[in-house]
Amino acid sequence: MGKNFIVFGDAQNMAELADHSVHLVVTSPPYFNAPFDYPDLFPSYEAFLQLMETVAKELKRVLSQGRIAALVVDDMLINGQKYPIVADITKIFIDTGFKYRERIVWIKPEGYIRISRRSGVLLQHPYPMYYYPDNLQESILIFQNGDFDYKQIDPEIRQKSRIDVQQYQQAKWYLNVWQITNVLPNNNRLEKGIAAFPPEIPSRLIQLFSYVGETVLDPFAGSGTTLKTALELGRNAVGYEIDLELMDIVRRKLQPDQPSLLRQVDEIEFIIRDDARHLRSHLQQQVQKRQKR
Ligand SMILES: C[S@@+](CC[C@H](N)C(=O)[O-])C[C@H]1O[C@@H](n2cnc3c(N)ncnc32)[C@H](O)[C@@H]1O
Repeated sequence: MGKNFIVFGDAQNMAELADHSVHLVVTSPPYFNAPFDYPDLFPSYEAFLQLMETVAKELKRVLSQGRIAALVVDDMLINGQKYPIVADITKIFIDTGFKYRERIVWIKPEGYIRISRRSGVLLQHPYPMYYYPDNLQESILIFQNGDFDYKQIDPEIRQKSRIDVQQYQQAKWYLNVWQITNVLPNNNRLEKGIAAFPPEIPSRLIQLFSYVGETVLDPFAGSGTTLKTALELGRNAVGYEIDLELMDIVRRKLQPDQPSLLRQVDEIEFIIRDDARHLRSHLQQQVQKRQKR
């Protein structure tokens, strides 16, 4: 297997990756049964937490000493019930042996409210107890696999990986609140129905937590945003994605828009395992059925 590959199969088994062979994990797990993207994907909340626990153990195995796993997650509101996903995933990763290092809040622009305009309830009933705010944020949870030895990094690689401090100041990377525009939900986008994150998120995380030439893993690769960004930043890219129906989207996304910057998609191996599934058409049908109701 080459240095860059995506496996179509379940991330609960990352047998293609040797122990401690990955330097950074950037991912957003499937949003637990999210009505717009993953209706009824999981039979229960416990099944979702079980998946996260098994993946956390695999990540602990494949990550090098001292390295980071960054997860973009949010609590989920389904049929009026709010599921404490941020808290539960934090607990799972701590119990797996990771150090809880940071929580960054990703704020989307105010015009973007895809989930629901819950705050309108109070306008109809302007009295106490009718308060349900609209959600504009997600959490970026940062976990660390023990202590990092800064001295082990080759000085030349360190120089090549220098962070642009002007950008760090101007775009306010130094705050634990990141204001970043989301991928806009228009119908023609490549990432329709995938709940993709904007490349700015993996871009910042990759620059802040990995060195040039190292390997970045996304165990829930989706459309391949992390993989594409990693390659653009001179890192190796490895991914897992269970849904075989996304293969073509990943291929198209990895086409270089700036050939000088991006290494060719041919450099990435596509591996199809027996445990890959066909999910998207079914999920999209479920979403459409709900919208018609
Ligand atoms: C929120 S999306 C990731 C989107 C991605 N960050 C992007 O920008 O396109 C989560 C992905 O995890 C995939 N997935 C769900 N369960 C999985 C599993 N057990 N193993 C691997 N991938 C899985 C889903 O099919 C979905 O594409």
